[in-house]
Amino acid sequence: MPDDAADLSARAIHAEDFAVARAIVDGWFDRPVGLVMHRLFFEELGPSGVWLGDDGAPAGFLLGLASEADPELAYVHFHAVDPAWRRRGVGARLYREFGDRMHERGRTRVRALAPLWNTASQRFHESLGFVGTESPGHVGPGQDRIVYERALPITSP
Ligand SMILES: CC(C)(COP(=O)(O)OP(=O)(O)OC[C@H]1O[C@@H](n2cnc3c(N)ncnc32)[C@H](O)[C@@H]1OP(=O)(O)O)[C@@H](O)C(=O)NCCC(=O)NCCS
Repeated sequence: MPDDAADLSARAIHAEDFAVARAIVDGWFDRPVGLVMHRLFFEELGPSGVWLGDDGAPAGFLLGLASEADPELAYVHFHAVDPAWRRRGVGARLYREFGDRMHERGRTRVRALAPLWNTASQRFHESLGFVGTESPGHVGPGQDRIVYERALPITSP
């Protein structure tokens, strides 16, 4: 594995990556989040996702899709970075790779959510030039989210 995030290999996600991701992701978040990843993002939507690093344990990965409802929109469902790789540009690289790929497919905007308590995720999205709007009860009663959007491609903040 290289030391620099810019040197990590990037590829689409494969169905076989699900088991690898499922085995590591709860430890990366320090709480059970594996069910939120949804197997369909690996089996049916893998070509839209990004896997950074070798075929074994990745430095980070992103699960996303091209919206069926809005032909201009790309959507990030989930992204995570190995704690050992954080603050080294892996998250930003995941978003840029995903954004480039979606832009090539004609998408002009990207959307992602962050919970109000997740200040790291909020700072991360702001650093990439996303603008957030608070949405009360976005994913259920009492489950507020910040809905972030920005234009594609993600060339600069
Ligand atoms: C949020 C997360 C994906 C960021 O990934 P990362 O690889 O560390 O991010 P980057 O190194 O690309 O950071 C880019 C910029 O975002 C901001 N940022 C990232 N993490 C931050 C943190 N913990 N606190 C404050 N700002 C942060 C900084 O401005 C950073 O630039 P800098 O390091 O030069 O100051 C990572 O912390 C993570 O996996 N967290 C747990 C999972 C999670 O919350 N996922 C999002 C919800 S699905």
